[in-house]
Amino acid sequence: MSEGEPLTGGSDTQGIVRIGDTVRRPLRPFSLTVQAYLAHLRDAGFAGAPLPLGVDEQGREVLSFVHGDVHGWPPPPEAAGEDVLVALARLIRALHEASAGWVPPPGAVWGGSPANSGRVTERPELVSHRDYALGNVVFRDGLPAALIDFDLAKPTTLVYDIANALWFWAPLKWGDPRDRPPALADADIPHRVAVFADAYGMTAGQRAELAPLVAGIARRYHEDSRASAELNPVWREAWEEGRHTLSRAEAWASKMAPAITASLIQPT
Ligand SMILES: Nc1ncnc2c1ncn2[C@@H]1O[C@H](COP(=O)(O)OP(=O)(O)O)[C@@H](O)[C@H]1O
Ligand SMILES: [Mg+2]
Repeated sequence: MSEGEPLTGGSDTQGIVRIGDTVRRPLRPFSLTVQAYLAHLRDAGFAGAPLPLGVDEQGREVLSFVHGDVHGWPPPPEAAGEDVLVALARLIRALHEASAGWVPPPGAVWGGSPANSGRVTERPELVSHRDYALGNVVFRDGLPAALIDFDLAKPTTLVYDIANALWFWAPLKWGDPRDRPPALADADIPHRVAVFADAYGMTAGQRAELAPLVAGIARRYHEDSRASAELNPVWREAWEEGRHTLSRAEAWASKMAPAITASLIQPT
């Protein structure tokens, strides 16, 4: 059998290859739990995720190849429009609706390093994706149409999951002028958050919670990323690369929280 075409767009997982209409990824402790979740999404009629196709003869997990374009860093102008935010918000809303009520199998195992394991799971509302990094959103006809890389999926809350999407796509992570991607250099980020909120249909409660939650998440990313750098050389490299951005993101998120909340409670 052919070795397949290496897929190197992501940042974390080695050894991902495409073979025909399938993707082979290393089997991890959480892979079968994620496949059970993907099977539920398929059965619920959500078409924006890979299909789970089990494990191959080499012991790798098999998923369907999701056709479309994936944008890396920095997001190009065509990934920076408000129409993109609107489509992403609707996609995530559909994911949330499809996920609601799903009960993970007994003995479920979830992924994530200490830095992104999150601490919001005491009262989870659903299982969701939790990692809307640029490389995990597949575009078709210029708009987000599907999600891939469910490695960090686990029980979470709706507003936490929304905050993760806005972290990468508002973008709250790169709000500081020194970190802005050129395509979003002059963007009104609080306004973009409100555009997403309207398209998703965020409740008044979620709108009130979002900005303080993001400020807390930014602080934790910064702290946890430093802590996990000491545990694992892979995370150490990510920390060295991202430490200044994370520190600026933390300061920016707390400074901007009132403006984000104000924008969320005003009609757009
Ligand atoms: N099911 C899939 N369909 C299409 N492309 C995929 C799929 N899985 C992975 N890829 C491609 O491989 C890249 C890396 O895969 P990903 O699962 O995101 O791994 P990582 O953990 O490294 O982020 C993606 O950005 C995408 O381009
Ligand atoms: Mg990825």
